[in-house]
Amino acid sequence: MQTPFVEEHLEADALQAFAAYLAAQGYSESGIQKRLQLDELSGLRLDRYPIYLRGYLSQGLVIDKLIAMFLLQGALQFEAAGDLLGADRRDFLLKLGMLQRLEDGRVVSAVSLYPCLGRVFATDHRFRHLPRLRASAPAEPVMYLGGDSYALARLTPRGPVGSTLEIGVGSGVHSILARAHSQRVVGIDINPRALAFAQLNALLNGVPDIELRQGDVYGPVAGERFDRILSNPPFVPSPEQRLAFRDGGPSGEDVLARIVAGLDAHLADDGLCQIVTHLVHHGGSYRRKLEGWLGSTRWDSCIHDFGRLTPFDYAVDQVKSSFGQSYPDYRDELLRWIAGYMQQGIAQVGAGVIHLRRHPGPGRAWHCEEEVLPPRAAAGDRVLALFQRRDRVEQLDDEQLRGIHAAPPAGSELERRQPLTGGKPSFRFRTAPGPLQRTLDLQGHIVALLEALPQASDAGAACDAVSAQGHPQALLLRTLRAMLELGMLEIVA
Ligand SMILES: C[S@@+](CC[C@H](N)C(=O)[O-])C[C@H]1O[C@@H](n2cnc3c(N)ncnc32)[C@H](O)[C@@H]1O
Repeated sequence: MQTPFVEEHLEADALQAFAAYLAAQGYSESGIQKRLQLDELSGLRLDRYPIYLRGYLSQGLVIDKLIAMFLLQGALQFEAAGDLLGADRRDFLLKLGMLQRLEDGRVVSAVSLYPCLGRVFATDHRFRHLPRLRASAPAEPVMYLGGDSYALARLTPRGPVGSTLEIGVGSGVHSILARAHSQRVVGIDINPRALAFAQLNALLNGVPDIELRQGDVYGPVAGERFDRILSNPPFVPSPEQRLAFRDGGPSGEDVLARIVAGLDAHLADDGLCQIVTHLVHHGGSYRRKLEGWLGSTRWDSCIHDFGRLTPFDYAVDQVKSSFGQSYPDYRDELLRWIAGYMQQGIAQVGAGVIHLRRHPGPGRAWHCEEEVLPPRAAAGDRVLALFQRRDRVEQLDDEQLRGIHAAPPAGSELERRQPLTGGKPSFRFRTAPGPLQRTLDLQGHIVALLEALPQASDAGAACDAVSAQGHPQALLLRTLRAMLELGMLEIVA
C-alpha cells in the first residue's frame, strides 16, 4: 500500500512531541484563521495562496513558517527547516516520510496538517497546483478537513458514551476526537491509505487504541452495535466514480443510503447517529426519503440545513474545484455533470447534518429541518438539548402544558419591523445566540403568546388571554408546544 510514512519510524512519543510543539506555537484553528484572515479554516482558497503567502504571512514568525510549510505546501531550505523545527525533529520527520527532500535539497511536507478542536490531523494535500505535487498525487487521496469535517466535529456531543463507530474515517478526525469521550471507538474505511493516515494521526494525538478496520460500510462490524454512529460519507452526486472520498454515485446517496439502512442493525436502542452530507432533493420530502432507507417510521430525525444550491451552481462548484482544465475541458465536464443531474431529476442540493435516533416514547416519531449557519464552535450540547426539549414536551399532556411557566431563553430577541410605507408590523424571533441560532418569522398569534406569557400566571392563562383575541385554544396549545420544541421558549417552572 502506498503511504508517505515508514511504519517502523512511527514513534508515538516523537509524534506527540511534534503535535505539542505545533500547539505551543499557536498552530490552531483560530491561530491560523487569524494569520490568514479567514473566517473559517475550511475557507482556504487556492486562488488566494499568493495573498496568504506574500500579503499576510511574514518571513519572521514561527507560526507563519509552520502555516506555509504544513498548510500551504511551501518549501524551506534544509537548514531553515532545522531552525524552524529543531534539527532532531526535522530529521525524525524526514525519516518517517512526513517531510521530504526535493531534488534541489529543500524540504517540503508530504502532508497537510489541519488543527481541529485542540488536535491536529495529517491529510493529503487539498490542492495539487504545483508540478511536483501533481507528480506525487496518490490515486486515492485522504481527504483534507473541509467544512463538512468541521461541522460534524462541532455538532458531536462530547458527553461520555460506551462505544462509537465511524464509517469513512479518512484522516481519522472523528474517531480520534470521539476517543476522548467513548470507551471504545471503531473506525472503518474502504481506502487503506486512509487507515494508514488515521493510524498516524492516532499516534500524533496520543490515542493509539482506536480500532481501525478496512472494509465497505458496515462490512467489518457485522453483528456489532454502537451507542454513536458518525459519518462523513462520500456524498457528491457525480457522473464518475473517481474519488472514494468524494463520489457518492449518480445520486450522491449510494453510501449514505446504506449507512442509514444499516442503523437498525448497528445502532444501540438509545443510540444517536450523526451524518454530515450533501442533501440531494428530488422534489419530495426528505423525511420520506429517510423513512424509505430506514424501512420504518419509528425514527426521529433532525436535519441542520446549511443552505441549498440549484444543480447548476452546485455542478460549477464541483467541476471548477478540480482545477487545471482548459476552458473547453471545463465546459464539457460541466455539461456532463449537469446532464447527469437532469437525468437523476435533482431539483436542489443542500448541505447539512442529519441526526437520527429511534423514537424513545410511545408517541409518534418526529422530523425537523432547521436552517442554520454551519457551527463555528463546538455545539454538541445544543444538539442534545434539541432532543431533550422534544422529549420533555412530549411527556406533557395538555393540562400539564397549561400549568407550566415559560419564557424566552436568555439572549433571544423579538424584533419588530415597521414597514416604512405604514401598514402592519412584521415580527422576527432570534433564538439564543451562538451556534445553531435561528431566525424565525412570526405570525400574529405567536407574537401575542410571547407578549402574554410574562403577564400571565401560567401558560394556560396566557393561552386564555390570546384566545380572547379570536385564536382557537387548540391552535395556541399546539403553538406553545412548537415554541418549546424550537427553543423559542424554555420551561422555567
Ligand atoms: C468525505 S471523506 C470523510 C473523511 C473524514 N471522516 C472527515 O470527515 O474528514 C469519506 C471517507 O469515506 C471513505 N469511504 C468511501 N466509500 C466507503 C465505503 N463504501 N465504506 C467505507 N468507507 C468509505 C473514503 O475513503 C473517505 O475516507
